[in-house]
Amino acid sequence: MSDVLANSKAADPGDSLAVLEKQRSLAETFGIPLAVLAELTHRCPLQCPYCSNPVELDRAGSELSTEEWKRVLSELAEIGVLQIHFSGGEPTARKDLVELVRHASGVGLYTNLITSAVLLTRDKLSALADAGLCHVQISFQGTETAPADRVAGYKGAQHRKIEAAKWTRELDLPLTVNAVMHRQNLHELPEIIQMAVDLDADRLEVANVQYYGWALKNRAALMPTLAQLEETTRIVEEARERLKGSLAIDYVVPDYYALRPKKCMGGWGRQFFNISPSGKVLPCHAAESITGMQFESVRSNHSITWIWQHSEAFNRYRGTAWMPEPCKSCEFREVDFGGCRCQAFALTGDAGNTDPACALSPMHETIFKQAQREAEGETNRFIYRNFAGGTPETGENGG
Ligand code: SF4
Ligand code: FES
Repeated sequence: MSDVLANSKAADPGDSLAVLEKQRSLAETFGIPLAVLAELTHRCPLQCPYCSNPVELDRAGSELSTEEWKRVLSELAEIGVLQIHFSGGEPTARKDLVELVRHASGVGLYTNLITSAVLLTRDKLSALADAGLCHVQISFQGTETAPADRVAGYKGAQHRKIEAAKWTRELDLPLTVNAVMHRQNLHELPEIIQMAVDLDADRLEVANVQYYGWALKNRAALMPTLAQLEETTRIVEEARERLKGSLAIDYVVPDYYALRPKKCMGGWGRQFFNISPSGKVLPCHAAESITGMQFESVRSNHSITWIWQHSEAFNRYRGTAWMPEPCKSCEFREVDFGGCRCQAFALTGDAGNTDPACALSPMHETIFKQAQREAEGETNRFIYRNFAGGTPETGENGG
């Protein structure tokens, strides 16, 4: 229930205007985010089993056109957004990417390309740099060719990624290596850190898989053990110290092994939104996994500012008034804002529940124990991400 509705129920009807005003000022307090994620397409040649896209992918026919994206980029710049992250799916699958980067750059946005890199050529990357691209982030599935290609579901992926990372630095663009980590590749972490150093990356993201959407379907094959996680933390801390000043390392822990949930998205509707391929403005990239919610589109008559401040979806879990117990009276409620709405929905069926990653959630124990059993189990085979709703891995892989 939104703060508006919750407060309206308690209030005298004559106060409803005051309640709306209060809600608006809450949204205005946070202001428009400085950085926005633009998911240009859900099309992608890879099939990673932990993809952060929704299980229901947007089809090519529903994607915003070049002119629509240009209008959106101009509007974002006008309302004060400073950075645009072009993502997907695979953003280089869009034929108009150079044009969109040029437009974003022309209206003053800092542009980052988040890519699997397998469709890039040196010429394409060079054209993007000429169009004003400021930064490149390449995702890696590992360091060893065969296992990394297996996770990607794409033969030759690893080789292409390494090449594209080298071109990125040759063109003098800053590089972030994004390494998505899970039970089947955590043993490669020291080599991944070395690979980031060898590629002259500025930043390495050691991103443990977060479990909603595709990753939840694949949780039994991906969930690390507690022992693996403790070893990972030790390796990251040692590398951070050793590489201080040359490689920055971000580290995201799977919150199944934490006592408190993460402050997902910095709190719903507080610091972040993204725009889906079909133009929906979403409080987080996985928000469409919460069924029953309606999200406004940039194709509607509403401005992006209006959607951010007034739409029901952004206000439903904004702030703290929507919270149930134990969050409602918890001293951490303004620290983590109750954790992740998408995870609460995926694991409890109600996005308005406390995130079960929190040890105070009545469901924490059950879910944690199940994940622990899965981590110690034998399941290694993936369900690959695709428009057909997923395809189980076959053959001798995944043994
Ligand atoms: Fe955070 Fe809610 Fe857990 Fe408190 S009870 S730590 S607010 S998720
Ligand atoms: Fe959607 Fe956490 S991923 S709120």
